[in-house]
Amino acid sequence: MAHRVGLGLGQLEAVAILLLLGLFPSGLAFCGVASQARITGGSRAAAGQWPWQVSITYDGTHACGGSLVSEQWVLSAAHCFPREHAKEDYEVKLGAHQLDSYTPEAEVRTVAQVISHSSYHEEGSQGDIALLRLNRPVTFSRYIRPICLPAANASFPNGLQCTVTGWGHVAPSVSLLAPRPLQQLEVPLISRETCNCLYNIDAKPEEPHFIQQDMLCAGYVQGGKDACQGDSGGPLSCLVGGLWYLAGIVSWGDACGAPNRPGVYTLTSSYASWIHYHVTELQPRVVPQIQESQPDSHLCVNHQAFNTAPTQGFLGLLLLLPLGLTLGLLC
Ligand SMILES: *[C@@H]1O[C@H](CO)[C@@H](O)[C@H](O)[C@H]1NC(C)=O
Repeated sequence: MAHRVGLGLGQLEAVAILLLLGLFPSGLAFCGVASQARITGGSRAAAGQWPWQVSITYDGTHACGGSLVSEQWVLSAAHCFPREHAKEDYEVKLGAHQLDSYTPEAEVRTVAQVISHSSYHEEGSQGDIALLRLNRPVTFSRYIRPICLPAANASFPNGLQCTVTGWGHVAPSVSLLAPRPLQQLEVPLISRETCNCLYNIDAKPEEPHFIQQDMLCAGYVQGGKDACQGDSGGPLSCLVGGLWYLAGIVSWGDACGAPNRPGVYTLTSSYASWIHYHVTELQPRVVPQIQESQPDSHLCVNHQAFNTAPTQGFLGLLLLLPLGLTLGLLC
């Protein structure tokens, strides 16, 4: 791994930034802009395409993703920072594209502070969100830029195509191969109700299967395409009105890409006031309402009808067993 602090690009960069600041006069408006918005499904991203994506390493190994939200703050998932881990063992790499190649544009920072949400205690619980303060601010560039934080009343419509990015596993237990280019995948948003319905199909008692109020689902009912281990904490980016918003933070899921198990994300907008409370300078933005959400319950119906059969069979057996015993006693 190239643990090297990249050098600024100098004057050219400064001119570019001044131009961009000219286009976006308010510093706060300077979020959610990527140099290219070309998206393809389940493929490698282009350098600079997701400039808010960061890699968080623990003991020098990529552990989680995160999103840059200002010069000095990164948003990630609370489960990436277990209590027993010291913040000194983490590093944040910004502006990276291929994790295994040296990128002059990349910057590395240490972590000065971790603020994990106090509600988070285990997989599937609420509050899987954490704020990281970098030891030093970064200078924005074509490769390092913040994403917009959605305001509390933001609502992203069902079916909206958003993009999850990360350097995580490409299949369960299959790690991304060197040079580990950033992966991107387009995923449609799924309503919480439908997601709950899906997660109750063949639900295992030991796995979390309740989609809480502060969670958002995105992905495919048929499976095959999903976020995976190592993507945690990374962004689910949605383009609305020309700006990219951090709609969700990769949180959990059942065996990446399994049917009826879309990826589950922390709903960033539900933590707008928590974020603003801890870091006053972080101002969530009002997201323009582009369209009404259409019901998406059809995504679960067929599967549920098909999948409740074994449960009925099992219940039937439980009911028949005493009945059989009773009949046996009577005869
Ligand atoms: C969200 O709140 C802002 C005011 O804070 C308002 O202008 C906007 O219309 C609201 N959006 C929705 C979707 O209700």
